[in-house]
Amino acid sequence: MQHAEWICIVDFGSQYTQLIARRIRELGVYCEIHPFHLALNVMRRNTPVGVILSGGPSSVYDEDAPRIEADVFETGIPLLGICYGLQLIALHHQGAVDPAAHREYGKAELRLDNQTDLFNGVSQDTVVWMSHGDTLTRIPTDFEVIAHTTNAPICAIRNPDLRQYGVQFHPEVIHSVEGKKILSNFVYGVCKAQGGWNPASFIEQSIDEIRKTVGDERVICALSGGVDSAVAAVLLYKAIGDQLQCIHIDNGVMRKDESAKVVKTFRDQYHIPLKFVDASDLFLDRLAKITDPEEKRKIIGATFIEVFDKEAAEFRDAAYLAQGTLYPDVIESVHFKGPSATIKSHHNVGGLPERMNLKLIEPFRELFKDEVRNVGRTLEMPKHILERHPFPGPGLAIRVLGEIDRQRLSLLRDVDEVYIDEIRKAGEYDNIWQAFAVLLPVKSVGVMGDARTYEFTIALRAVTSIDGMTADWARIPYDVLERISNRIINEVRGVNRVVYDISSKPPSTIEWE
Ligand code: XMP
Repeated sequence: MQHAEWICIVDFGSQYTQLIARRIRELGVYCEIHPFHLALNVMRRNTPVGVILSGGPSSVYDEDAPRIEADVFETGIPLLGICYGLQLIALHHQGAVDPAAHREYGKAELRLDNQTDLFNGVSQDTVVWMSHGDTLTRIPTDFEVIAHTTNAPICAIRNPDLRQYGVQFHPEVIHSVEGKKILSNFVYGVCKAQGGWNPASFIEQSIDEIRKTVGDERVICALSGGVDSAVAAVLLYKAIGDQLQCIHIDNGVMRKDESAKVVKTFRDQYHIPLKFVDASDLFLDRLAKITDPEEKRKIIGATFIEVFDKEAAEFRDAAYLAQGTLYPDVIESVHFKGPSATIKSHHNVGGLPERMNLKLIEPFRELFKDEVRNVGRTLEMPKHILERHPFPGPGLAIRVLGEIDRQRLSLLRDVDEVYIDEIRKAGEYDNIWQAFAVLLPVKSVGVMGDARTYEFTIALRAVTSIDGMTADWARIPYDVLERISNRIINEVRGVNRVVYDISSKPPSTIEWE
């Protein structure tokens, strides 16, 4: 989307790049992350008020180190380099970087040599978060040192005439105690941003933009019932009313009664034009005997596209396809934007528009899930939709490990219902990012009454997370876990053992497949 005032964050692959975006938006200024090799082009189309060069895992001297065109240093737009970004600025202005200097991770005591502009209002001694290998050993031409630490004599630099700044530490990380103040100084003090960006202004701008883009054409939207597509549908409906046509497909791997609930909410409550398609037989036939997770994803993705394409045939006059794609979907998918590695191929992005010859509308492409929830709240959508845990596109297919069949799916649906019900009753649901049960293709021995049983094992997973990129296992109280386990084993036939997953992401992932 084109925002009048925005900050461009150039991604060089740092694990903290998203945090920079988060902080800037928390400061009330819209920003977007673009990969180093595309950023300058984006900036040429829509000039940002400032540019932040992110950190990155490379050394500036690596042969394949990511670089940005030198033009970025000549645009006159204020620039802040963080870690690797600082080193790029330094090299451009004839500074020197020493890859041999000792590495530094963790907290460091920063001492300011200048308390104006970037460090305005920041304490002279302040704790910052360091995570770097290379350090600056020669001050770039026409720059001055504005802060140092014991290990990094050139820890922050500036050239106020060029409005270019660089810091070796990570102001975006929470352990940099006054980091937010420093980013605020850059955004408001140096870039002279006006601010005022919030969910309400986002909605207003999006509606304007959607109307302008769409004109009097028709838009179709795949409505899964998850938070992202639900908020997207409501936003679009607000923008273009009945020009929107939603399609909900039951792919056979949804949770219990899910499709019925989606239809009820969106058709009956919101009066959004919605076509319901039950394609569960087709999906399940194709998934039979498939055990490889990526193959399951591919089959579901391809079948979804096929069914959607067929069902959308009656709306051939539609020119646009709307999707609730989020920023993490974009970077975790094969269409990733920056240099971060692909872990699992999410099928949400790509495929459909090319095949259907539709143009894409993705109003949340640059947002994080919590921001989409805020947009939904501002649109006064009900809590039970907004606070729902994320549910992956491939649904229960990646939670019935190994082979999938109707019986196993039905068993998992019953288990899932009990699990979520107890978590809600215990008041834990909203503290958890995502909770779900996994059916393991493992049978074990148990005893019920006087009889030996030999039945399936359920693994319960619950994680806390900010954005699904990293996660920790949720500390659900033992008595709640006990109730859940008792109820599952007593109420769901075919299960005689329940275990709780205590791994975090990384190194595990949230889903088991
Ligand atoms: P992982 O398992 O990669 O999951 O830690 C991170 C988040 O993404 C969801 N997920 C998916 N979502 N299609 C989706 O739409 C997928 O193929 C997919 N795989 C994982 C997962 O539920 C979690 O919220």
